[in-house]
Amino acid sequence: MIQETSSAPCVRIIVVANEKGGSGKSTVAIHLAIALLRSGQNVATIDLDSRQRSFTHYIDNRLTWSRQRGKDLPTPTHVCFDEDGEFVTAEDEAAGRATFASTLANLAESHDTIIIDTPGHNHYLSRLALAAADTLITPLNDSFVDLDVLGNVDPETFAVTGVSHYARIVDEARRERQQAGKPETDWIVLRNRLSTLSSRNKRFVGDALADLSQRLGFRSAEGLAERVVFREFYPRGLTAIDDLDELTLGTRPTMSHVTAQLEVQNLVAALLGAPAYQFDEDFSDVMLQSDAA
Ligand SMILES: Nc1ncnc2c1ncn2[C@@H]1O[C@H](COP(=O)(O)OP(=O)(O)OP(=O)(O)O)[C@@H](O)[C@H]1O
Ligand SMILES: [Mg+2]
Repeated sequence: MIQETSSAPCVRIIVVANEKGGSGKSTVAIHLAIALLRSGQNVATIDLDSRQRSFTHYIDNRLTWSRQRGKDLPTPTHVCFDEDGEFVTAEDEAAGRATFASTLANLAESHDTIIIDTPGHNHYLSRLALAAADTLITPLNDSFVDLDVLGNVDPETFAVTGVSHYARIVDEARRERQQAGKPETDWIVLRNRLSTLSSRNKRFVGDALADLSQRLGFRSAEGLAERVVFREFYPRGLTAIDDLDELTLGTRPTMSHVTAQLEVQNLVAALLGAPAYQFDEDFSDVMLQSDAA
């Protein structure tokens, strides 16, 4: 059942979710959060992955790095859900649902956007988040292994033969919203870690996604390319859309940083129609270093 969560009329709830682990949820969530902060929005973030907490660690790393460098880095109001123990009883779940609803209601009072990062497995809090999502972003590594959570393909032709379990979970959450009279969720499937080279795999996955987007009602977006810089940002809590200078990065910016920044900027505009923001940076210092370096 959907709980009444968004008491403030204007808050937008963006949920980044995919039952498949390691698809780029936390990476996408932090980039969106910082991009929206930089465009002037008040952003809050929630980490529902109470066990792994990598999104929360990302934010902690950012605050530590900001202090160490003496550089102000915009950082969202952040909440991490705590949950003890392996087994969730019915009482735990009822308490978790109530905390989830009150957390959203509190954050909605003073923020324009709430971004929720979810764990890479099926969890009752993730299902609650799906039902609360005005926008749902599902990052997907560009591979048939990852596509399998949404749909099955024919082994010979790679044509879509059916939809699979995660697509059904999303569908259920969307129906709950409909029954509660809420607007339809804008569902975007984001291709992550795309090869910068064209390949048969890239084309076949693209074709299968185009088919599934019709069947399941999502928009498909070309997301982020496979870039080493996205893996290097985490210990310093940085993103591709922070200032690309040596004080911020702790190293000289490279062409990979610049390309990643443009890519994220375009992505945010395409996904959310966010107002464009200007970078008045001087890239004359940029080193010509490829993603492979
Ligand atoms: N575009 C990219 N290029 C290169 N590496 C990437 C990219 N996106 C994500 N990664 C890396 O892939 C790994 C998984 O990313 P991330 O932690 O964001 O996924 P996740 O879906 O949140 O994982 P989990 O399900 O475990 O929470 C990390 O090492 C991250 O740095
Ligand atoms: Mg994660």
